[in-house]
Amino acid sequence: MVRAMADADTAVEFIPADLAPGDGKALELDCRDLDVVRVHSMHEPLFVMAYERLWNEFGPQHEMEAREIVARRLAWQPAAAIGNCWFRYELILVRRQGQFVAVRDHTAVTTCGRGAPHAVVHLSHALVEAAWRRTGLAGWLRAWPMQTARACLAAAGFPAASPITLVAEMEHPDPHFPNRLVRLVAYEKAGFKKVDPAVVQYFQPDFRPPDEIDASGGPRPLPFGLVLRRVGREEEQILHGAEVREIVECLYRMYGTGFREQHMAAMWQNLRDYPDDQANIPLVAPRQ
Ligand SMILES: CC(C)(COP(=O)(O)OP(=O)(O)OC[C@H]1O[C@@H](n2cnc3c(N)ncnc32)[C@H](O)[C@@H]1OP(=O)(O)O)[C@@H](O)C(=O)NCCC(=O)NCCS
Repeated sequence: MVRAMADADTAVEFIPADLAPGDGKALELDCRDLDVVRVHSMHEPLFVMAYERLWNEFGPQHEMEAREIVARRLAWQPAAAIGNCWFRYELILVRRQGQFVAVRDHTAVTTCGRGAPHAVVHLSHALVEAAWRRTGLAGWLRAWPMQTARACLAAAGFPAASPITLVAEMEHPDPHFPNRLVRLVAYEKAGFKKVDPAVVQYFQPDFRPPDEIDASGGPRPLPFGLVLRRVGREEEQILHGAEVREIVECLYRMYGTGFREQHMAAMWQNLRDYPDDQANIPLVAPRQ
């Protein structure tokens, strides 16, 4: 276990046991020169580098939340209780000798919704500088959210050993968009699985500014795939309707903290039409 920085609250650890089953390559990466920090507020100088990189990559496609929403999420630390969930958002920046290497952000949501504590981590964005791709670093980016999950569980007073699910919303594969395919291959190789899109149609909320949404006649939720790592249960090929519902409810509760209620309504309605709690839902390869 390596501590990237001395400050306990800022330090991000390299914990091999947190790596996804297919991310063993990460262990070969020499991490000693990497400076890995959590950015705690939009007033920190490093916020600018972290947010700008994410915005430049994802903002033009309306895939990145506005600065104010990110600032509000950062203020949840160490964790915030909203409704029956606890939320913890983290923005992690990786640099080497002051130069940008990678950035990722994610939100842990813990709930006792189905009677037992569970942490769902929404993997919002990950960006690795081109020169650092396929080096193993992306594996660490997929593992760090586990620390966030445990911190959120602890803040909520739940056992750190409670089940953890990492979830990424990913576009469906389309040969016209090779970048999308790269993401899907990367997560598939790591051992993530996708909730069968033929059984569950998941929608992400409309990320456009609220006034633009209203001016265009209302929200346009986007169809996405739900790509999961159920930690410790990566080999399982099915999950129950109740679990999918709980995961999606966590995501929509998170979005609901920043998006207008009327812009979320269609998604809550769609969730009501999901398969029954007892239904067996196949987990398939992300590229499927
Ligand atoms: C998605 C991203 C974070 C993945 O990181 P990465 O370092 O490129 O990928 P990984 O190391 O996880 O790749 C795992 C596997 O995916 C496949 N893969 C990755 N990039 C590939 C490419 N350009 N062509 C073909 N296969 C590729 C390979 O099988 C690779 O394993 P290998 O290197 O051992 O052969 C990175 O590509 C990136 O920053 N992309 C732009 C932003 C983005 O799409 N973010 C993700 C969504 S939020």
